[in-house]
Formats: sequence, C-alpha cells, structure tokens
Amino acid sequence: MCYAIPGKVIAINGRRVTLEYFGEKREAVSELTCLAPGDFAYAQGGWVIDRVPPEEASTILDFWKEQFFELQQRDLRLSRLSLDRTGIDRHTAMVFDRALEELPLREDELLTLLELEGPRELEYLYKTANFLRYKHQGNSCCIHGIIEFSNHCSRGCHYCGISTLNRDLPRYRLSRAQILEAVGEAIDKWGFKALVMQAGEDPERSVEEVAEIIAEIRSRWAVLLFISCGEIGIPGLHRLFDAGARGLLMRFETSNPELYAKLRPGRRLEDRLEHLTAAREMGYLLITGGLVGLPGQTSRDLLKDILTARNLRPDMYSFGPLLPHPATPLAGAQRPTSEAVRKVLAVCRIADPRESRLVVTTAFETLDETAREQGLTSGANSVMLNVTPEAVRPSYELYPNRAHVGEAISRQIEVTLDLLGRLGRAPSDLGIRETDGDISGV
Ligand code: 5AD
Repeated sequence: MCYAIPGKVIAINGRRVTLEYFGEKREAVSELTCLAPGDFAYAQGGWVIDRVPPEEASTILDFWKEQFFELQQRDLRLSRLSLDRTGIDRHTAMVFDRALEELPLREDELLTLLELEGPRELEYLYKTANFLRYKHQGNSCCIHGIIEFSNHCSRGCHYCGISTLNRDLPRYRLSRAQILEAVGEAIDKWGFKALVMQAGEDPERSVEEVAEIIAEIRSRWAVLLFISCGEIGIPGLHRLFDAGARGLLMRFETSNPELYAKLRPGRRLEDRLEHLTAAREMGYLLITGGLVGLPGQTSRDLLKDILTARNLRPDMYSFGPLLPHPATPLAGAQRPTSEAVRKVLAVCRIADPRESRLVVTTAFETLDETAREQGLTSGANSVMLNVTPEAVRPSYELYPNRAHVGEAISRQIEVTLDLLGRLGRAPSDLGIRETDGDISGV
C-alpha cells in the first residue's frame, strides 16, 4: 500500500531541501545526513521522513504518473471560481475581492465572512477558500494516522467524554508492546508516514515511559511522530522532542479565557498557549485549533480562535464541532450546524492561505457524513485515519458514535482514496510550495 508520493531531491541548502515530483517543487526540512541531490525522499508537513531507494521511488512514481496529472486536472476544474457575484451584496463582494487578491483581511472583514448566512454567499465563501487552497498548496492532501494509546485522564473538562466526569467508561491503557504493534502495522502494512500518538492526561504513564516508547519507534521506523497527550510541561516537551517526537497536536479549545476557565476547571488558557508557544520554539510542528459550538461562544470568539491559532504559526489547523457527551455537564448543549463548522474552516484558509494545512476532523465527520467532502472543498487538505486497535477504539469516547470506530483501516483507506480521487487530490504532502516562501521551523 502506498499513499505518499516520493520527491526527488533537487537542491540542499543546509537543512532545507527542495524536492520535486511531477513538476511540483516543495521545500522541506531534513535532519537526515545521508541525503544528496538526485536522491528520492518522502516528506510530510515540511519535514523529510526518509530516503527512498531509487528503484522503490521509480515504481511508485510510475504508479502515480498518469493518475497524478489526471487528478491535478480534475482538482483544477473543480476549484475554478466564477467571477459572477450575482446575489452577493457589494460589501461582501469587496471582501471576497480582497481575499482573492491576497490583501490581508481586517478583523471586521473576516468577521463578515464568519457571519455570512445566505446560500449564495456561503457557496462563494467555500469556493474562495477552495480556490486559495488549490492556488497555494496544489492538490496534495496529507493523511495522518492517529493511535489513541490510553483513555485514562485526570482532567475534568466539561466537554470531554473521557474526562474524570465519565465514571462509567471502561478505561484502557495500551502496553508498550501493543503500541509498537499498532505503530508497526500502520507503517509497515498500511504505509503511513506520519502518526499522532494521542492519550488523555494519564497519571499512570510517565513522560519518561512515553519518551522511551517514542525513542523505540524512531529507532525502528522512519516516521513523523506527533504527540497529543495534554499538558506535559515544558520539560516534558523537551524530553519528548529529544526522544524523537517532532510534532504536537494540542488544541487550545477556546481563546476566550472565561469560557476556557469554566470548561476546564482549574486550568488556565495562558498556560495552554505557553505550552504551544514553547513547543513551537523547540521546533515542534504544531497542529492546533479549537471547538466550534461551545455554549456561549460568539462569532467574535470564533474569529479570535482563528487568529490565536494563526499567531501560533501552525503546521495545521484543527477546528471541529462540539458533540455533547451525555456523561458531561454539556450533555444538553446544541450541536453546531455543519455550516458553522464549514465556515470556520473556510475562514481559516482565507486568513492563512499559503502555508498551513487544514484538517477535516473526525468530530466533523461524526456530525455530518459528507463532512470530508465539505471540508476538502472549503480549504481543507488533510484527513486523519484512526489506526487505534479496533478492540479499544469504542472506549476512546470523546463524544458518542465517533465516525470510523468500527471501520477497519483497510476500509478507511479505501474510502479516503476514493474520495480524494473524485476530488482530484493526491495523497502526497512533500512540504511547502517553493515559490510560497519561507518555511519556518525545525
Ligand atoms: N466533542 C468534540 N470534540 C471533543 N473533544 C473532546 N471532547 C469533545 C466533544 N465532546 C476534542 C477536544 C480535545 C480533542 C482531543 O478532542 O478538542 O482537544
């Protein structure tokens, strides 16, 4: 199974490597010492994962060659934007113009977009975001796998189904051997190049133990590893970076400090943001964002969430709907509409058109079974597949009836590739488009 396309190294400048595939040039950061011009390599999230032997690269490139250009054409066709603004009021049309000219939008303009209601305007919003995604990032889509390795958690977050508030949930903690087995299967059998290791804030598993597991994974496989196990402290972040983690998935949930304090008793927004900033400075790639549809959340709050995420210069934005869990204090909350979530995705893309990826979250897929297509045509270009062992997946119950809980990995891959094919997207993500300038980071 291969669903990453290797690139040819065409230039190396210190740790910055330029890769080329089918005429597309991308920049990525490499920690490999063995890479030379003419070599082939896989990269994800702007980070070189591994050298690929030339025979293997040529087999995979041959496999993709014809398909790639077909996909690109299809995406180009589907991403075209008509200049017909009939039915859109003048002020909104002007905001779209400025977005398309890539003039930085003011906050009030972004808010106008977030507050759009009319079907014609919304359609234009999504299309503008999709157009900008195509223009700057091309048709590549990155596919990460997520392994949920423990659902023990010592926090009492009011929205979360694995918090201490849910007393009836069967708890699990994968052993080191089980984690390694799941990782091995994801990489060797299914071809994943980037994995997120997620868990609750499990007091029984020390940072040191997680560090050892990460070090073992990195010594056995070439993979971009994201950690996502809550606030482990600045020394914890250092320890896991040293062990080989290169990404952090951590949402700040909401940028409204009062709402944050209410929903995460005893925790402070500023500590969360400090964690994210420190991780960024250490060289972690960041995936961050928040929840859409929290009780009391306004569109100004959502705008601030998008801007807060943008300030953190994330590798990827992650915004998804709140799905109330019956065992939590938010049990009676309303689910947001798909449109509300889709608007946030589109505005994220318009606010940051060039460099960051944007994921369609599983929560959005749970809210709406057409979410992937909706998200991918509104600026998103990333999906996460669940590679947690199937036996424990139902117990990672952040919210009820999570999408893909009962779906074998093979099936998730099949469905994903089918959708990407229909939308003209290639499961490749070699980094940042070279012409789009600076890649900061590692
Ligand atoms: N609905 C949607 N997302 C949730 N999360 C936690 N609980 C819920 C819920 N009920 C999200 C949080 C957290 C991530 C791991 O899961 O944003 O950061």
